[in-house]
Amino acid sequence: MRALCWNGVDELAVRTVPDPVPVNPHDAIVRVRLSTTCGSDLHFLGGYLPGMRAGDVIGHEFMGEIVETGSEVNSLRVGDRVVVPSFIGCGSCRFCDQELYSACDTTNPNAALQQPLLGHPSGGIYGYTHPFGGYQGSHAEYVRVPFADTNCFVVPEEVTDKQALFCSDAVPTGLMGAEFCDITPGDTVAVWGAGGVGLMAGHTSRLLGAERVIVIDRFDERLEVARRRFDAETIDYSAVDSVQDALLTMTGGRGPDACIDAVGMEGHGTGLQHLYDRAKQLLRLETDRATALRQAALACRKGGVVSVLGVYGVTDKFPMGVFTNKGLTLRTAQQSGQRHMPRMFDYIAQGDLDPTYLVSHDLPLEDGVRGYDLFKNDKRGCLRVVLRP
Ligand SMILES: NC(=O)c1ccc[n+]([C@@H]2O[C@H](COP(=O)([O-])OP(=O)(O)OC[C@H]3O[C@@H](n4cnc5c(N)ncnc54)[C@H](O)[C@@H]3O)[C@@H](O)[C@H]2O)c1
Ligand SMILES: [Zn+2]
Ligand SMILES: [Zn+2]
Repeated sequence: MRALCWNGVDELAVRTVPDPVPVNPHDAIVRVRLSTTCGSDLHFLGGYLPGMRAGDVIGHEFMGEIVETGSEVNSLRVGDRVVVPSFIGCGSCRFCDQELYSACDTTNPNAALQQPLLGHPSGGIYGYTHPFGGYQGSHAEYVRVPFADTNCFVVPEEVTDKQALFCSDAVPTGLMGAEFCDITPGDTVAVWGAGGVGLMAGHTSRLLGAERVIVIDRFDERLEVARRRFDAETIDYSAVDSVQDALLTMTGGRGPDACIDAVGMEGHGTGLQHLYDRAKQLLRLETDRATALRQAALACRKGGVVSVLGVYGVTDKFPMGVFTNKGLTLRTAQQSGQRHMPRMFDYIAQGDLDPTYLVSHDLPLEDGVRGYDLFKNDKRGCLRVVLRP
């Protein structure tokens, strides 16, 4: 089959690779109809996240059609149209029982690689390094889905392929981040980052009842999407002296009730702190440029919630004292899309949310290298690239 493969830092290629085959009776093979890019891919593409090997198939957000099921798969049939969350759950461990599928204890065969760094391993994820399980990814014609009964969700008729695609990752990540904020009527939620994740976090915060949503980025094309789609107020951080001052002014001196970081380890910034982080990141003395995380903690009102969706590794100068002295709550996780699936289908079917506004490019898989070049380097023109095998 054809697939988009990682071949080294900033080096991708579409190659012919072996078709996946079922390796246990709970597996299904899915023929991919649509797959999409994610900001998380940029972390290993740029060499910030280690653990990829030449030839690995990348991609973890996808939907498609079941073409084969193992003998123990009960709820699915060949031909079913399904969406698959990016983290893989087993459906029966202690963590899956609590709907913490991304923390599944069973699905990461390379747990030993993660344990020293994290204390405990995460679940497995498609196309996202060997410490995260070494599973082949979704920018391909076919994907093997383990524990298919837990991980394949049949898409209702009223939800289109493209809408379903984003239920794999961008929507549940945003929704999880909004839920972390414990939104009550009258609340103001600020979101750093107007990529696919930040936009879904802002939009679902609105659906959960936030009175005001303020989105922060430096690309007006992305901020415009937030203004138009969910009536957000916006801050272009490159046009203000201080994001914190801007937020204080907008909230009567109090600060937002909750702050969502949808930027992560490759945060852009200005000034000395940014140069310090860049230098340390290049020397591999820290993995993160945590500009957004630091700003979110500083800006958040006392007793508020800092909800972190951006992916981080080792963060230097983490402002712990700010959390203690302001009584902030930090909440963060990798998303467990399985948990949110019925609710997301409802939002879409009722017309409350149409995540397809994230699609700026719809390309054949064969154009995958160009797709990632656009996604990485043209933040103004490119929001999310859909790839069609
Ligand atoms: N927790 C999860 O389960 C999960 C799931 C998906 C993605 N993610 C993470 O979410 C983050 C965002 O993903 P994405 O797909 O939206 O990425 P993206 O690259 O499309 O968007 C990131 C946005 O952040 C903006 N940004 C950079 N520095 C900023 C700053 N200092 N202040 C405000 N905005 C800034 C960029 O301009 C860009 O618009 C990534 O770190 C990704 O790994 C986490
Ligand atoms: Zn993702
Ligand atoms: Zn499990």
